[in-house]
This record gives sequence, structure tokens and C-alpha cells, in this order.
Amino acid sequence: MDSIKVVGGRELKGVIPISGAKNAALPLMIASLLTEDTLTLSNVPRLRDVAQLTQILMNHGVDYSVNGKRSGQDDLDGQTVHLTAREIVDTTAPYELVSKMRASFWVIGPLVARMHEARVSLPGGCAIGTRPVDFFIEGLEKLGADIDIDAGYVVVKAPGGLVGDRVEFPKVSVGATHTIMMAATLAKGETEIVNAACEPEVADLAACLTAMGAKIEGAGTPVIRIQGVDRLHGAHHAVVPDRIETGTYAMAVAMTGGEVLLRGTRANLLDTALDTLREAGTEITEVPEGLKVYRNGNGIQPVDVTTEPFPGFPTDLQAQFMALMTMAGGQSRITETIFENRFMHVQELARLGAQIHIDGNTAIVDGVSTLRGAPVMATDLRASVSLVIAGLAAEGETTVNRVYHLDRGFERLEDKLTRCGAQIERISG
Ligand code: UD1
Repeated sequence: MDSIKVVGGRELKGVIPISGAKNAALPLMIASLLTEDTLTLSNVPRLRDVAQLTQILMNHGVDYSVNGKRSGQDDLDGQTVHLTAREIVDTTAPYELVSKMRASFWVIGPLVARMHEARVSLPGGCAIGTRPVDFFIEGLEKLGADIDIDAGYVVVKAPGGLVGDRVEFPKVSVGATHTIMMAATLAKGETEIVNAACEPEVADLAACLTAMGAKIEGAGTPVIRIQGVDRLHGAHHAVVPDRIETGTYAMAVAMTGGEVLLRGTRANLLDTALDTLREAGTEITEVPEGLKVYRNGNGIQPVDVTTEPFPGFPTDLQAQFMALMTMAGGQSRITETIFENRFMHVQELARLGAQIHIDGNTAIVDGVSTLRGAPVMATDLRASVSLVIAGLAAEGETTVNRVYHLDRGFERLEDKLTRCGAQIERISG
């Protein structure tokens, strides 16, 4: 398995193009199952999860094509893909495909909405907690589906089609919101989703579904109302910029110093995280091309954070922020409320010299003046990148082993960082 070698201690200077959001691209691609027409998506990132989902969609009968590179295009510009589900040939999403990525489970919504049946393997994904699917099941049952669990598969049937109803989630879930929203677009009558996720990726999916002919109000707020329609049609939609990639590189600059333009992103996708970074001593200004990030002269200040659903501080930036706090001038407390097992990076950061103690779902971080490079192991997607950015700031050489997860969610990380002066290389293994 590949590893990444980083020689730390260099400031980052230059421009980093921000890719389209993985967490938006995946549900948008799944939305193609809802129509027999072509859905064209631009600004799609080149990621392993995108390739993996393509396999799953093709298995259902989706035709997939991707535009070639155009003259004048940067290698790091997003790709344009065309997805056509003219005929759904198979309503089963098999274990071999779904077990690699949790989001592939979300095909269950469009499949049952359009085909009135689906058989989808229980999901896999990052090992950051139990991540059950009870909200999906209860939500689809509310819309009139019959559900059985059979040999590791969720089997859904709605012979007469789904029927709109009120679906209230006990806890905010991004995936369940995407799935029920997609399912409701083709249900009879009105569906009201209460305690819906407000993440920008939900609003992005709703914008695309609306362009496809869906009737949706309130996406991006806790109550979403969907008026079912008989059919959806094709559309063209550009994927929203990746707020997690944006925050990750901003934190890298906060750690190493220097000045970087994060091109093609927007502050309003991650205001809370940017405010937290400002408190920690990072200067961030919005410019027409994106966000300019540099460290002010006061060093890294300790700041306490608690992860929360949007618009709170995202759990997907928790590991990266912890990496930053390991070098703060004092103690910070980082509390994880979304996933119960998301501190696996702690022991790896400790190998670089970080001082972190865990107390329940809070990590207490005592900043140190220097980290020292060491071999470390990537555990999940966001944890992996936290080790890379810690390595960029550490003295000497850090090797991040098992970077498989990084390729799931960060497009050409080494290239983007190398362009800004980092000494980083991939070692194939
Ligand atoms: C999505 C993101 C992931 C992010 C997470 C939280 C994608 C592809 N992934 O994951 O990067 O970390 O949101 O912002 O967009 N839960 C249940 N029952 C369910 C569903 C969820 O108990 O049926 C719980 C989960 O265990 C977790 C919480 O709800 O504790 C939130 O999870 P959820 O928002 O569903 O995460 P994902 O959609 O899988």
C-alpha cells in the first residue's frame, strides 16, 4: 500500500485549487438514478470514492462518460461527467461494492422511488463508529415501504410507489436526509423532513434535484418540504466546492505559516471553522478568486472546539484542527459529538511528540513548541490528512503509511502541496 513521505518545516506559499466536494458529488451522482435522462455534473473531483460509486451505478445500469481535458485546463480542474440511467437493469447493490463506502448505501432512496424495490447491502466506510442505518429504514417505512433485513441486505418494497409523509429524524443525519429527500421527489404527495441536516451538500443536492424538476423547499434548513412529481428530467449541475478540503488546507497553512490562496472556494461554506481558525491566530480574507490564508505574527493560540452538525464546527475537520492545536501555545479541549470513535489519530499524533489526553469524548491537547517527524499510520480519511499536515510542520521526516483512505477523499494532495513548496512525495508500495 502507498505511503506518503513528508519533510517538514517549510512554509506553504502559492495557490491551491479547491476541488468539488466529495460529499456533494456522491449524492449528486446517485441522483442520476431518479431519471432516464442524462444528468451532467461538472467540477467532479477525481477520487477513489467517486470511481467506486461509478462502479456501483454502472451495475444498476447507469451509462457513465467523462469529458476529456480541454485546452487551457489545469490538471487539477474538476471533471465533467454524464450519467444516464435510461434503464435500471438491477435493483441490487451488492456487498462487494457497497461494503467499501458507506455513501453507496444511499442508492436505496432513488431505487425504491423509481423502481419500487431495492436490495442494498448494509454499508462499510471509515471505521469511526457504529454508523447504523436505522434512520434510513424508519424514514422509508414512513413513506410506505416494507423493509426486511435478509442476509446482510436491506430489502425494500413499495409495490404501489412511495407516499409522502412526515419524517422526523431523532438526530441530524446527512446521509438519511439526502436519501429521504431523493426518495420523496418521486413519492405521491408531500413529504416533510424534520430535523433535516443543513449541510451545504444537502442544499447542493436539492438545487440539482430542483433543476431536474423536483419541487423542494427549505433545503439548508431543519425542515424540508418536498412535493412529489411523476418524473424527473436531465439537468446540468456544478458540484459545490469542498469545504472540508478548504478547511484542511487552511489549517495546514495555520500550522506551517506562509500564505496561500485557496482558489475557487467560499467562506460561507465553513464560517464556524474559519472563525475558529481566526481565534487560533490565522488571517483569512475572502477575495474574488477564493480565500487568502496566512498566519498572523502571534503564533498559534489554543481554542476549544466541539463538533456539531452544520453550521457548527464539522467533525470532518476535527482531526486536522487537533493537529494544529498540538503546536498551540497552551491547552485546548476538542470534543467530538458526532461519531463515538473518532480519536484514532491521537495515538499517531503522539508519535510525533503531541501531548494529548482523552477524557470520554474530549481530547485535551497541551501544545508543544515542536513536533518531530516519525513513521505513522493512517487510520481513516480525515485522520490521514491530519497526519500529513502535522508532518508538514514537524521537524524532519514523517512517513504516513497506508494512505489508501486519503485517495478516497483528497484529490492529488501531494501535487497541490508540492506546488506550494512542500517537500512531500508518494512512495508506491
Ligand atoms: C456524512 C459525511 C461524513 C461526515 C458525516 C457527519 C458523506 C459522504 N459523509 O456521513 O463525511 O463525517 O456526514 O457530518 O457525506 N446515525 C444513526 N442512524 C442512522 C444514520 C446516522 O444513528 O441511520 C448517526 C451516526 O452514527 C452518527 C450521526 O448519526 O453518529 C451522523 O451521521 P451521518 O450524518 O448520517 O453521517 P454520514 O451521512 O454517514
